[in-house]
Amino acid sequence: MIRPEKHDYPVEKALQFLEPGPVMLLTSHHEGKSNIITLGWHSVLAFPPSLVGCKIEARTHSYQMVLASRECVINLPGPDMFELATEIGTCSGANVDKFARFGLTQKKADLVSAPLIDECHACFECRIHDDAMVEHYNYFIFEIIKAHVSDAPDASSTFHCTPDGEYVLSDEFLRRK
Ligand SMILES: Cc1cc2nc3c(=O)[nH]c(=O)nc-3n(C[C@H](O)[C@H](O)[C@H](O)COP(=O)(O)O)c2cc1C
Repeated sequence: MIRPEKHDYPVEKALQFLEPGPVMLLTSHHEGKSNIITLGWHSVLAFPPSLVGCKIEARTHSYQMVLASRECVINLPGPDMFELATEIGTCSGANVDKFARFGLTQKKADLVSAPLIDECHACFECRIHDDAMVEHYNYFIFEIIKAHVSDAPDASSTFHCTPDGEYVLSDEFLRRK
């Protein structure tokens, strides 16, 4: 897998990557360990600040890690990583080191303890902005506080969940201004 070169990107523009609803790999770090969860249920909420809401089930290891650390990184995998996303989303960090198992590279973030996944083409460092809906809905509202993006990502750089367990690419536009 390649590790796309990334540069700093304006946080106020980061939501444009998340608006189409791509599959995400969300990383967390707590008590010396890092973890990854695959997420399909999320939504852009507001800007500025750049807010994104993510459903992280309470039964997951990531839920505990994010709640304890109050931080995460949202990473966007390219379409070549779709099988990996499925595998990451079907095992638990409670008993597996997913970075080691899947051969992914942890890159130190600038502002949070959770690592970037260097094989991903866009990585957004986040802190919990509002936890009011966590208890009842397991819904976290994050603020993007730092963005790292590779050059010229295009629409086909992401993939999306369908209800039947398959993925779809967003590689065609219906243009209307
Ligand atoms: C394509 C896909 C999308 C998923 N979307 C979500 C989601 O939005 N929220 C969630 O809590 N789990 C989602 N999952 C399931 C988690 O990724 C899965 O429970 C994972 O094993 C949890 O890992 P953890 O226990 O290490 O945190 C998804 C899984 C896949 C494969």
